[in-house]
Amino acid sequence: MSKPTGTTQSFLDSGQYTRDSILRYELVYGTNFVSPGGARCATQLIKKLRLPACARVLDVGCGLGGSAFLMAQEFNLDVDAIDLSENMLALARERLAQTELENRVHLKHQDCLELCAQDYYDAVYSRDVFLHVEDKQRLLSTLKTALKPSGKLLFTDYCCDAKPWQEDFSNYVDSRGYHLLTISEYRTLLNSTGFTVIEAKDMTEDFIQLCETELDTINKLQIDPIDREALTKDWHNKMARVRDSDQRWGLFFASK
Ligand SMILES: C[S@@+](CC[C@H](N)C(=O)[O-])C[C@H]1O[C@@H](n2cnc3c(N)ncnc32)[C@H](O)[C@@H]1O
Repeated sequence: MSKPTGTTQSFLDSGQYTRDSILRYELVYGTNFVSPGGARCATQLIKKLRLPACARVLDVGCGLGGSAFLMAQEFNLDVDAIDLSENMLALARERLAQTELENRVHLKHQDCLELCAQDYYDAVYSRDVFLHVEDKQRLLSTLKTALKPSGKLLFTDYCCDAKPWQEDFSNYVDSRGYHLLTISEYRTLLNSTGFTVIEAKDMTEDFIQLCETELDTINKLQIDPIDREALTKDWHNKMARVRDSDQRWGLFFASK
């Protein structure tokens, strides 16, 4: 059984995604992004979808809207961008209002598990969101239903090694309330949901390189030394989890 949407939303808005912590993450990832690689990585991934102009895309867990804005502005796509965190969406709405993309990007407060779309999207795109969702079977079925026949699903996500995990990693995952799969568990689940898997790739080495670049960014930020110290510590811990513990980063590309 999935948790009620309101419970998950308050968990996100009062925990990992308070307004202050979102803005702190954004300093590191770049304007309008809260995920590894910021705009550069998003551009590479959107290109992979090879969508024609005016194709319809769903950005699941759009955060501040960075990917959705890129899709509309640089790729001429029509984007429905949904997120469960009101804090994220409030900021995304402010940012959208400063663009001229309001008729191409549609922001909506929506739990991805509660989507009702059917055969509607040419592609579903999502960046580092599914770690928050426990019922991945229901999630993938819902997204498959939302896609048109032959529609594409592309996402990155925090993943893990097979259990048993090191104690520090278990404690971290519990404290964040994350629900992680191994890369091969994701592949199996995509297949059993009826997707054709094009790619299910361990991107952990790329993740480490991105963390190194992000650490450089943190060093150069004009911020209070206490904030810099906290961010540096967070990033060192993150790198230790991928280098010495059980955290992985996966890229998944599949078609309906
Ligand atoms: C790490 S952030 C990534 C944001 C954005 N995709 C990006 O690349 O900047 C994860 C996002 O997933 C959203 N999220 C978590 N659970 C969700 C759900 N059930 N439905 C929709 N969005 C969700 C969070 O509110 C948050 O904005």
